Amino acid sequence: MTTRNAAGPSRRDFIRDATAAAVGTAAVARFHGLVGAHAAGSDEIRVGLVGCGGRGSGAAGNVLAAAPGVRIVALADAFADRLTACRERLATQNPDTATVASDHCFVGLDAYQQLLKTDVNYVILATPPGFRPIHIAASIAAGKNTFAEKPVAVDAAGVRSCISLADEVSKRGIAMAAGTQYRHFDPYIQSMKRIHDGAIGQLTGARAYYNTGELWKRDRQDGWSDVENQMRNWLYYTWLSGDHIVEQFIHNIDALNWAFNGHPVRATGTGGRQVRTAPEFGHIYDHFAIVYEYDNDAFATAMCRQQNGCEKKVANEFTGTKGTAYVLPDYSIKGATSWKYDVAEPNDMYVQEHTDLIASIRAGKPLNELKQVAESSLTAIMGRMTAYSGQTITWDEALNSPESLMPSTLTWGPMPTPPVAMPGLATD
Ligand SMILES: NC(=O)c1ccc[n+]([C@@H]2O[C@H](COP(=O)([O-])OP(=O)(O)OC[C@H]3O[C@@H](n4cnc5c(N)ncnc54)[C@H](O)[C@@H]3O)[C@@H](O)[C@H]2O)c1
Repeated sequence: MTTRNAAGPSRRDFIRDATAAAVGTAAVARFHGLVGAHAAGSDEIRVGLVGCGGRGSGAAGNVLAAAPGVRIVALADAFADRLTACRERLATQNPDTATVASDHCFVGLDAYQQLLKTDVNYVILATPPGFRPIHIAASIAAGKNTFAEKPVAVDAAGVRSCISLADEVSKRGIAMAAGTQYRHFDPYIQSMKRIHDGAIGQLTGARAYYNTGELWKRDRQDGWSDVENQMRNWLYYTWLSGDHIVEQFIHNIDALNWAFNGHPVRATGTGGRQVRTAPEFGHIYDHFAIVYEYDNDAFATAMCRQQNGCEKKVANEFTGTKGTAYVLPDYSIKGATSWKYDVAEPNDMYVQEHTDLIASIRAGKPLNELKQVAESSLTAIMGRMTAYSGQTITWDEALNSPESLMPSTLTWGPMPTPPVAMPGLATD
């Protein structure tokens, strides 16, 4: 189904075309991965960062702390001011390992392509997620080990692209991890292990929450085109962020799929735009409440909110036939088995995800998280689809949806804000 209002401006199969082109060139792309580098006797990780904003800058620091032999050698961003600020901060904080040469700094919408032509062998993708499927396809085609921030797609076309590329990652022997960092956080890992080992019996239900306040926004400046304004305020435009259920809540939705060992079969939900209604907040919602149904009649309620002045709760709770696991924030189990995570200083998950990825590369056993995170991205997208449309959405409907939000061509210029999605007005 197509959801009226859900899409951004003009939509075509840009991502599918980009993927096809990327895989088409795969045969001739030079392979820059570390398996080849090992053969040459070097296992230096040469990092290229695409998207030099808050998380990208943070991830650059995290990867430097993750393992020895890591350098940041190239930067790419759509905007010069963002790249310069990140470059200066990195060089000040890590002069020996993160001073990036001018000829390895690239600005513009094609900056990622320039970066991929350099000798980087480890690429961090941290732009707004709308661009992620295109960047992932290009990074894989260039044979780069890839760390992609979450989510990896904001629409079904992007998810299909990532799922189709997951096998390509394995075939090429490159490594791929995603920024769903709970998967690398010891308290989550220990809790999930116990759930999977039967500590709460058969899993029958779950509750996931990301109820928080409003996030940042950037005041529009003179001279910014619509496209620049939307890209600088990307959170508020579905073609760039997927809406906050996809952009932010994916962490806890991913934990649902982790616990259930799979994705839901259908989603029914609601949502709206109640408080954050001013035009500068684009067209996304400020709250969602979704019920996901998994196999065996198990279900999960999942709600997220970005409204100030309300109770804050970010949590994952799982109930089974023998008890309940309060994974986040307590990391405890109550019921037939009683347990509480009691390590005083758990690992830093933002560093650990890079430690694990680099270790897998150096061991010649590359991690491949692409399919897993693509499915979690689609789970979140299903939630948006059911809320925007007012219809129950099955997994197959979501996966096969024609929805493709990225404009077929993107240039600096006018771009009207799509209308706020109105449930009940879906079109086919
Ligand atoms: N794992 C986590 O806990 C976590 C936390 C925060 C953000 N994130 C994710 O990280 C990503 C970035 O978020 P952020 O908070 O750093 O946003 P941000 O706005 O601070 O940074 C995004 C950067 O990407 C640049 N950019 C935009 N379009 C680009 C393009 N086409 N090519 C190159 N550069 C481009 C922007 O100029 C900006 O510098 C998002 O996917 C977000 O969901 C993850």
